[in-house]
Formats: sequence, C-alpha cells, structure tokens
Amino acid sequence: MTQLSVPVITIDGPSGVGKGTLAQFLTSKTRFHLLDSGAIYRALAFGAVKNQLALDDVPGLVALAETLPVEFVATSILYEGEDVTSKVRTEEVAGVASTVAVIPEVRTALMARQKAFSELPGLVADGRDMGTVVFPEADLKLYLTASAEIRAERRVNQLKNQGVSASIHKITRDIEERDERDLNRKTAPLKPADDAIIVDTSNLNIEDVCRKVESLLWDKGLIK
Ligand code: DC
Repeated sequence: MTQLSVPVITIDGPSGVGKGTLAQFLTSKTRFHLLDSGAIYRALAFGAVKNQLALDDVPGLVALAETLPVEFVATSILYEGEDVTSKVRTEEVAGVASTVAVIPEVRTALMARQKAFSELPGLVADGRDMGTVVFPEADLKLYLTASAEIRAERRVNQLKNQGVSASIHKITRDIEERDERDLNRKTAPLKPADDAIIVDTSNLNIEDVCRKVESLLWDKGLIK
C-alpha cells in the first residue's frame, strides 16, 4: 500500500513577527492541522520552572521533554490537564524557553513529538527550525522577518489591547536577547531554509501578509 504524503507548510522567523496569526489564517484556508512548536518549548520551560529544574540540568530537561505532559485542545494549552495558555504566553516563559531550546539533546527529545503533528489532510507548522530541521521536505516554506523595534512595538500594542502596560524598551531588549540566542545557537539556529520564501513584514500589515501568502497557496496547489 502506498502511503499518502502529507502536505506541510512551514513558517519560521523571530519572535513577534506575525507567525502565529499567519498560521491561524493558513489553517483556516487549508483546514490543515496546526503545530505551534514554540508552545511546546514554552510548555517545557513552564514544566522546568514548576519542577524547579536548573536550566543547565540536561538529563532532567531531556527526561521532562520526553514525557512532557502537554496537550493542545482547540486554542488552549493544557499542562497536566490544567489550562496554562496565559501562563506560558508571558515574556518570562519565552525567555526560559529560548534558554532551554539551545540544548541539542532537548531539541532531539522534542523532535518526534513535533513530527507526529504531520497528519492528513496536512500541516501548518510554525517555529524557528520548521523548514530547516523538522520538516525539510515541506511543500511551502515561509520565513517572516521584521526589525526588532517594529516587532516590539506590535507586542506592546498587543499587550495594551489585553489591558497590560509594558515598556517598549524592556520588550525591545527582551526580543533582542531572544533573537541573539535563537540566531546564534549551534543546533538548529533560526535561519531561512535555502528554499524558503522570505516575507519582510516591516511595512506590511497582517492582512497584506495573509493576502500575499494566500496567492502562494494557489500557486503551489495547496488550496483549490
Ligand atoms: O515562537 P515562540 O516565541 O513561542 O517560541 C519561544 C521560544 O522557543 C523561542 O525563543 C525559541 C524556542 N523555539 C525554538 O527554539 N524552536 C522552535 N521551533 C520554536 C520555538
């Protein structure tokens, strides 16, 4: 019996560039499954803090990664059955996630779990190394970019809409620190795959980005 191949669309790029919104748009257009790989790294970070693991305790982090008690139910993230969606979306958890994500053994331990999301009718996968490492065979690879200042501004506005005030300087610094770690780590650093389409979102609003990418879906035959 021949196995049907699963179409995969990858979206990589730095924090706050609009990957999540684009991924939601693409899943609504294609009806594909969604992998928010950052949420898996964030859940690991949340679990590490909860279990008081040192962030350089490689065996402890690997053991946790291999049995990570995280589930995705609709738009919620459950950890040991508890809804932790807003708890894992903080800048603090993001910082810990980017720190533990540097460890190659941790990345390997999370690999199978990410690959398992690739099921029919297809997958939209968002992260840092989706097109380069986890799904190198993807049908469409997108890489979003924008300057750190613009991404920080968008993040501050997003927080403002949630009734949270934030300093643009602190958010910019946090984003730059995470970029530094994500771009310069030895294993699976953030970079576009050779065959990725690069979309600079600095001067585009999210609707423009979605429209641009929707035409790529048609070109690739991923929607009919
Ligand atoms: O996408 P995000 O902001 O939720 O990701 C949080 C951190 O997780 C990010 O700074 C680095 C890490 N991460 C990663 O190393 N590889 C991925 N595929 C996704 C996230």
